[in-house]
Amino acid sequence: MKTIVQKKLYHVDSRGYYGSFGGAFIPEMLYSKIEELRENYLSIIAEPSFQKEYNDLLHNYVGRPTPLYRANRLSTKYKTNIFLKREDLCHTGAHKVNNTIGQILMAKKLGKKRVVAETGAGQHGVATATVCALMNIECIIYMGEIDIERQAPNVARMKMLGAEVRPATSGSRTLKDATNEAMRHWITNCAGTHYIIGSVVGPHPCPDMVARFQSIISEEIRWQLKVQTGKETPDYVVACVGGGSNAAGAFYHFLDDEDVKLVAVEAAGQGISSGYSAATTVLGKPGVLHGSHTILMQTADGQVMEPSSISAGLDYPGIGPQHAYLFDSGRGTFMSATDDEAIQAAFELTRFEGIIPALESSHALAVLGKLSASEHDNVIVNLSGRGDKDMATYMKYIY
Ligand SMILES: Cc1ncc(COP(=O)(O)O)c(C=O)c1O
Repeated sequence: MKTIVQKKLYHVDSRGYYGSFGGAFIPEMLYSKIEELRENYLSIIAEPSFQKEYNDLLHNYVGRPTPLYRANRLSTKYKTNIFLKREDLCHTGAHKVNNTIGQILMAKKLGKKRVVAETGAGQHGVATATVCALMNIECIIYMGEIDIERQAPNVARMKMLGAEVRPATSGSRTLKDATNEAMRHWITNCAGTHYIIGSVVGPHPCPDMVARFQSIISEEIRWQLKVQTGKETPDYVVACVGGGSNAAGAFYHFLDDEDVKLVAVEAAGQGISSGYSAATTVLGKPGVLHGSHTILMQTADGQVMEPSSISAGLDYPGIGPQHAYLFDSGRGTFMSATDDEAIQAAFELTRFEGIIPALESSHALAVLGKLSASEHDNVIVNLSGRGDKDMATYMKYIY
């Protein structure tokens, strides 16, 4: 990971805020744990021994750098230059492992013996169970009952890796509820337990720490694009947003390059006004979710609204505080794709390029026709994960 020079507005400030978003809204029982993390995370990440182990594992275990692939047939169709950042080729099948490698090293440095995590699509759960197996650390994963059903292969993988998978049975029984349960577990089992949060959400410093671990994505894009096109900065970076970690990583090293358009794609579910959607920036307003002040879908009296998306990883009623600020400041362009559009985009990528994407990543692919990119533009799509886990859903559309 490069030393990061934070030039302007869009990174976290010393109080843990991005504009008016962020902060740490936590129960008193968590205060000492969050403070321990806040006081130590930057110095631990900067330690040469941490950097060496982190970079060695990213290279030799995860398989980084992941390729930046020019999708020729897709480029011809959309009359622009489309490059796919192949996070789907990471060990375990998605970008989530970039974060869990960093976090497990953080847990070790802090002397933790046990890990708890939440998961939606199961990719963060698998990535967490993987690093826990690697480091011989006990692992408990909370997952919504609905997600346990629709992402069954990932549940089996977590169990095979030695993790205990606990169902979250409240609310919509999806990612929000799994996050509630994991946080509750952390509050009651504080000593010796590290919570590996799976996205750029939660109380400060969680969003910034996860963004830093995911920033390897844009660090690589810069030099890879330079090698392939002679230019370091693309015209567009497009990524799907659940909580927002793959987008945060893909945007990170372009935040201060204002001519790079940062496009975040939310899940519109069955349609924005259908009552079954997870398009947070369209349907939400500012409030507190999972420990930070951000934008979230809520009822008139402030209760969290149940989100809905065909993709378990985007089925979340909020976005991380940095994304809330990118939206609010206009630095980011927020778009959405419906379930049907995502399915269509998944089949298009598969038939055009021979790559089966995760349902989450398919939402990013689904807006390619709406970007108004020119034939000279370079468009990066962060292909956050592979589609193996989604085959049961895709099979319903194969006839
Ligand atoms: C492949 C993939 N992409 C994207 C996401 C969404 O998470 P985030 O917005 O944190 O990248 C998930 C979440 O599980 C995922 O599995």
